[in-house]
Amino acid sequence: MARETINVGILGYGIVGGGLYKVLTDNAQSITQRVGRPVNVVKVADIDWDRPREFDVPPELRTTDASEILEDENIDIVAETIGGIKPALGFVMAAIEAGKSVVTSNKEMIARHGNEILSAAAARSVDVAFEGAVGGVVPVIRTLKESLDADNIHEVMGIVNGTTNYILTQMSQNDMAFETALKQAQELGYAEADPTADVEGIDAANKLAILSALAFGRRVDVSQVYREGISRILPEDIAYARRMGFVVKLLAIGRRTAEDRLEARVHPVLLPNSHALAAVVGSFNAVFIRGEACDDVMLYGRGAGALPTGAAVAGDVLDCARNIVHGASGRTPCACAGEADLVPMGEVRSKVYLRMRVKDQAGVLGTIATIFGSQEVSINSVIQEQSDGKTADIVWIVHECVEDQLTSALKAIESLPIVESIPACIRVEG
Ligand code: HSE
Repeated sequence: MARETINVGILGYGIVGGGLYKVLTDNAQSITQRVGRPVNVVKVADIDWDRPREFDVPPELRTTDASEILEDENIDIVAETIGGIKPALGFVMAAIEAGKSVVTSNKEMIARHGNEILSAAAARSVDVAFEGAVGGVVPVIRTLKESLDADNIHEVMGIVNGTTNYILTQMSQNDMAFETALKQAQELGYAEADPTADVEGIDAANKLAILSALAFGRRVDVSQVYREGISRILPEDIAYARRMGFVVKLLAIGRRTAEDRLEARVHPVLLPNSHALAAVVGSFNAVFIRGEACDDVMLYGRGAGALPTGAAVAGDVLDCARNIVHGASGRTPCACAGEADLVPMGEVRSKVYLRMRVKDQAGVLGTIATIFGSQEVSINSVIQEQSDGKTADIVWIVHECVEDQLTSALKAIESLPIVESIPACIRVEG
């Protein structure tokens, strides 16, 4: 006979685990009404209960032993909020094997092992949900899996990392250097002590692999996602961009080409102020989706934090609970038909912003323009600034061109004695 309650065990009591517990317990009454049965957190596992937490758990629910959740037959849903691959993946596979549904906010695990996790879940007729893995509370997973499921999606483009968006916003609004803005992000708790995963685009690449698989129905090998971070963005370029009507953002871009191949790339871009994503500032996230029937859709919200991410994971708990109540599972299985055929970055076409520090003398512009021409790189606009009579900044925007050809041109330009350096090369979108 079915139990009177749906029982949940939480693995990992950090920021997200805390938010999840708080949302599920604070809203227990309305959740019971919505699901048709009470949804109770009955056990929370963490290896260290001495750390101070924002949201307290009654001592009788605490354990340091994950197997007390994984082996408890009364637990229906396991929420994995540990993060990373080890031990999270082993726990998730054990939970599925034990016939439990799993909810998780673990982007790295889903990006790298989503296929094996979803296959195991299908074999055991349980559900795996991961709304909290991308964009915190921004409901992009369910939107792609369900709301836009009937459409043909062409493009998913997102600001999916709040730390880097916060840093770029500070650099832009307060003329800060990257290092100063990063330090501030660390003091506010946005950036980790080791900020590599955020600032070098690793976190965004994991999220893009997940979004692309859902949007385009092909598995994306995250190690093949092109990735460039924001640590080399200079305040001078943010200032030039602003004067030309652009903002600098770190974007995760997934795009289906006319030949049915996929572009999957994470890198800084110049976005025109008129683009919907340009208005997304601070630690907020947003995902812009373009589809054949739906046209443009944008989802916006807090991409991190205990309560926003906790609310997204709690929504997944309710989804799994409803399926259990109605005796359903696997309603939205993995829909990937094989691996994505990714376009190598060298073949991608982009419009590009370039800044060069050059000798201020006759013939410089012409020499550089000739090299661009020889590689079929066509100039859209050019301005010369900051001349002290000896050196000057030349800022170019070139029309859409093939990356490999631009790279060849820049190599030749860099070797000219009249060129001191090329401090910036940033793609332009929108
Ligand atoms: N580190 C992420 C960010 C939050 O800065 O957006 C969790 O995905």
